[in-house]
Amino acid sequence: MTQNLTIARPDDWHLHLRDGAMLEAVLPETARHFGRAIIMPNLVPPVVTGAQAAAYKDRIMAALPEDMQFEPLMTLYLTEDSDPEDIAAAHASGLIKSVKLYPAGATTNSASGVSDFKNVRAALDKMAEIGLPLCVHGEVTDHDIDIFDREAVFIDRVLDPIRKATPGLRVVMEHITTKDGVAYVRDNARDLGATITTHHLIINRNHILVGGIKPHYYCLPVAKREEHRLALREAATSGDARFFLGTDSAPHLDGDKESACGCAGCFTATNTMALLAHVFEEDGKLENLEAFASRNGPGFYGLPVNDGTITLTKNEQATVFPDKIESANGPVTVFDPGYDVFWTVAD
Ligand code: DOR
Ligand code: ZN
Repeated sequence: MTQNLTIARPDDWHLHLRDGAMLEAVLPETARHFGRAIIMPNLVPPVVTGAQAAAYKDRIMAALPEDMQFEPLMTLYLTEDSDPEDIAAAHASGLIKSVKLYPAGATTNSASGVSDFKNVRAALDKMAEIGLPLCVHGEVTDHDIDIFDREAVFIDRVLDPIRKATPGLRVVMEHITTKDGVAYVRDNARDLGATITTHHLIINRNHILVGGIKPHYYCLPVAKREEHRLALREAATSGDARFFLGTDSAPHLDGDKESACGCAGCFTATNTMALLAHVFEEDGKLENLEAFASRNGPGFYGLPVNDGTITLTKNEQATVFPDKIESANGPVTVFDPGYDVFWTVAD
C-alpha cells in the first residue's frame, strides 16, 4: 500500500554548492525539492564581501536550469578583516541572511577564518544591532583537544562567551553532532537555534570506521557515539522550533574523498527528503517532518514558509537512488544510508 505525505516545500538552512562545474552538477539536486537554501561561503577564495556574495548569487542563478525555481540565501564568510559596514549594507539590501563563522583551520577552506575573536568584536556587535544571525561552525581547533570532543569544548570556551559578550546576537549552531549541543540549545531559550544534518541522524562513528574506513561517511564535525545520534534524533523529530534542517550537503569529487587524505563532507542533496521521511517514520514522528524541514527554519530567520508543497510517497519497492551524480570533472557519490528506504519525493 502506498502512503503519501504532503508538506510545505522544504528549505535547506546549510548547503555547499561550490562553483563552476560542481555548482552546475549539484544545484539541480537541491532545487528539485527545496525552495531556498542558506549558501555556505567557503569557496576558494571565500565569499567575504557583499560584492563577492552578489557575484556568487549571479553565478548560482545562471547555473539554475530554466524550469526550476530556487532562491539562494547568501552568507558572508567572517574574517578578522571583515568590514562591519559592508556586512550591514549587504544585509540591508536583502542580499545576505547570515554571516558564517569558521574558526581558522576547523574544516574545508576555513584557513581565512577567525583565530582571535576580539578581532571580530565590531562585526558581531553590528550584527546584534541589526538582527543578522551568525551561523557557527562549532569546533575548537586546538591540537590537544580530541576531535570527538571539539564541539562540546567549543560551546564552553568559545560560543557561550561570545553570546554573553554580545547580547542580542542571534546564533545558529550549525550541524550539531552531540547531546551537549542539543542541551545547550534547550537550556538557552533566547536567540539560539541549531541545524541538524540528515547524515548525523543516520550514522554514528562506527559507520565510518568499523569493517574498513568509509570515506563517504567522513564529514566535519565528525559523527559521534550512538548516544549522541539518538539525542539528535530526539531533537530533530521533536517538533521543537529551535531545531531545523541544514543538510550540510558538501560535494567533493570521489577522487578527493577516496584518498590518503580524504576531504570532509557527505553529499546528501539527492536523497535527503526521502531519508528524512524514513527517519521520522521510524521514530513515529512523521507528523513533525514538516516542522523540521519546512517551518522551523523560516520561523528562526523571520521568513515566510514556502508557498508550494512536495509530496513524499512510501512505496512497496525500495527506492533506487543514483549511486553517483556526474560533474564535468568527475563523479560525486550520493550518501548511502546503508539500508533500504521506501520513500521517494513524487515529481
Ligand atoms: O564535512 C564538511 N564539509 N564540513 C564542513 O564544515 C565543510 C564541508 C565542506 O565544505 O566540504
Ligand atoms: Zn558545511
